[in-house]
Amino acid sequence: MGEVPHVITAAPFTAVNMEPVFFRAQELRKLRTEDEGRLNNKREMAQAYVGRQAVNLFYQESTRTRISFELAEAAWGMGKSTTTEARKFSSASKGETLAHTVNVVEQYDPDVMVLRYDFVGGAAEAASLVKVPILNAGDGPGEHPTQAFGDSLTILEQLGRLDNLRITFMGDLRFGRTIRSLVYILSKCQNNHFDFVSTPDLSLSEDIKELLDSLPGITYKEHDHVSALTEVLPETDVFYVTRTQTNQGAPVLLNNQFRVTRATADLLPQHAILLHPMPIDRSDPSRSEIAPEVDEHPRARFYRQAGNCFYARMAILERIMEGKPVLEQAA
Ligand code: NCD
Repeated sequence: MGEVPHVITAAPFTAVNMEPVFFRAQELRKLRTEDEGRLNNKREMAQAYVGRQAVNLFYQESTRTRISFELAEAAWGMGKSTTTEARKFSSASKGETLAHTVNVVEQYDPDVMVLRYDFVGGAAEAASLVKVPILNAGDGPGEHPTQAFGDSLTILEQLGRLDNLRITFMGDLRFGRTIRSLVYILSKCQNNHFDFVSTPDLSLSEDIKELLDSLPGITYKEHDHVSALTEVLPETDVFYVTRTQTNQGAPVLLNNQFRVTRATADLLPQHAILLHPMPIDRSDPSRSEIAPEVDEHPRARFYRQAGNCFYARMAILERIMEGKPVLEQAA
């Protein structure tokens, strides 16, 4: 038996080893949406893994990740069991540890476990305990590798490359796990430049800076004031924005200058794309990191991005069901 195909971190992901998932994700989108025979295709896919099962253990709130994993499982005909808010609605509320939970779930012989956990290292701990493939659906402020699959697929699809890019990240760069996973991928592609725009309390973690410092050909600059956007955005290819991660312990709210208005989005060149992993915080629309009018802006691609995460998850699940490693192995 080969290695268990866990997906815990985006650190080993490269443009080359992710290629089969990118390719298949795009093919699956076509089969399910564009082709004449889409309903037949969907019916056929739903026969593929009948009799296989997934368990989705979600210790934190989720909309996109949970629904897209559940639908991806259903799209392949898999059975599934999901617990949402596991801290409240599973035996975690009775003090059960993650280790006991995953060890018990393994006894039910599922084919894959999707885990969203509220602390860094949850997925790695689970993977060290069980032989069932673990997919990290977010571990506290740690990582979110399947989101990064969808994010990088969106960049590739929309701009045709993952290298020679100028990427501007704005928002909560310290507690945002999607940023960490995406930076791992893009920092390994040639000749990318990053601009990081945030307040000092929410700025990039030291370990990511150390990583970037160690990589030849990668350059980056940190900015603690939004005035930098006037200079940076006209040169930007990808503008990636996040909300303040209030649920992950972010100590302060980003002040409401760190937001994208129509005027901000208009600074981007025609070919550029504006990404956001969502949810966009609209609890107070006047402070929202994406002003409501930007939803319809011609640079905005967040819905497409969310769709690509779904297709990437379908492609990842297929490889796991086929017993293939998620990342293409070097020849
Ligand atoms: C993100 C997350 O949970 O890390 N959401 C998602 O899965 N698309 C981003 C966020 O919550 O801000």
